[in-house]
Amino acid sequence: MSYDIAWARVNLKNVPHLVTPEIPGPKSLELHGRASKIMKGYSGQVKLFPVVFDKGYGCTLTDVDGNTYLDFSSGIYVTTLGHCHPKVTEAVQKAAGQLMNCHDFTTPIKLELLEKLTSVLPGDLSGIQLYDSGTTAVEAALRVCRAATGKHEFLSCYGDFHGKSGHAVSLARMNRTNGPTREAGFYMVPRPNPYRPLFKKSDGTIDTDAYIRFFDEFITEATTGQVAAIVLEPIQGWAGSILPPDDFFPKLRQWCDKRKYLLVADEVLTSMGRTGKYLAMEHWNTLPDVVTLGKGFGNGFPVTAMVVRKPYANAVENISASTSYGGNPMACAAALASIVAIEEEGLLENAKRLEDFFIPRMEKMKREHKIIGDVRCKGCLMGIELVKDRNTKEPFDEAGKQVYQRAFRKGLAWIPAGHILRMSPPIVMDVDVAAKCMDMIDEAIGETEKELGY
Ligand SMILES: Cc1ncc(COP(=O)(O)O)c(C=O)c1O
Repeated sequence: MSYDIAWARVNLKNVPHLVTPEIPGPKSLELHGRASKIMKGYSGQVKLFPVVFDKGYGCTLTDVDGNTYLDFSSGIYVTTLGHCHPKVTEAVQKAAGQLMNCHDFTTPIKLELLEKLTSVLPGDLSGIQLYDSGTTAVEAALRVCRAATGKHEFLSCYGDFHGKSGHAVSLARMNRTNGPTREAGFYMVPRPNPYRPLFKKSDGTIDTDAYIRFFDEFITEATTGQVAAIVLEPIQGWAGSILPPDDFFPKLRQWCDKRKYLLVADEVLTSMGRTGKYLAMEHWNTLPDVVTLGKGFGNGFPVTAMVVRKPYANAVENISASTSYGGNPMACAAALASIVAIEEEGLLENAKRLEDFFIPRMEKMKREHKIIGDVRCKGCLMGIELVKDRNTKEPFDEAGKQVYQRAFRKGLAWIPAGHILRMSPPIVMDVDVAAKCMDMIDEAIGETEKELGY
């Protein structure tokens, strides 16, 4: 299929366009200074780089000082189809002028979205409820698993992130800021990370079976045997775009079927084209029982979903599933227009075309920079892991911070993550623009290596 990304084409003669001697510029600093006297709880990303954005279009972002950047993170994995995609903007504008909210009554646009969504999702994933954040969709997924199985315990995986409510944080690493303690019945197990394997075969390669055997043993030893589901991200986003070994999900699916555990794929970050498929799980031909969708689902409009396979549809009736904003007409319009754009513009194909460019480009960077330990990519979800030493694989946080800031100053808007560079450009990007972004990162890594004595 051909792709049509003309509306988002960037003229690299004009972008990045940096007009202030320092970035963030004076207006950004002034506005952010005033805002931060009132707004509390900014993320580390903003604290490290307090730029104030004013406009976004396609793959570009412009700040209040008139500096224009290339966007290599889609906001925060959200604007997968580029900022202000014309089809999405028009659909939201139209809906806003017609009907904004009528609780969870059916509306024509909701029906259209539901039918369209089931047509693009694999298998019998056809029981849907709509929400307004990834976290509420995850919460609903947990409640539906309990309703469907009559059991209440959950297994989740080291490094995963699922949101910031009480149960969602209990699915992830417990720390000072989201503690002080995990909710009862929530347990974490290691998952296979090919770059940092915990269980290895005698030839040194990752032993996926050993992880599954450990899950079995862990359930016997640590839980009360009331496990409803295992919840995990198909590709770990926040942990640094960590891909599973190809045999993991098919084996996990078999294990869940045998032991009668539900498999929940939290695809808030990985779905709707981000990896070149509607669901990342499709890369491994694995059908989860429950899926959560978010971020790119409405291309920036807060709309998310929990989707269950047919056998679990009735359980959704038993969890008082609706919310005030879930499925409002503007949200449905945004999500529907996003799917239509993916289909009409061949954007899954474009994400794959970009992957075919990114993989060899990142492999080349790895050959040329000693501090790169590993590179990974699926569609437009990529990670570059920086280490102090390739043998010890010691994480190199200082390098991660410097590369982030240096590339930002060159005109690349993106997100930091300790020693792993995370990249998630809009899937409407053209290869020449992607190449420019990678050049900026490459240069920033080179400068950082020099600065840090490598
Ligand atoms: C995999 C995953 N699940 C859930 C969430 C929570 O989504 P939200 O921030 O929309 O509540 C996130 C957010 O980053 C996520 O990456």
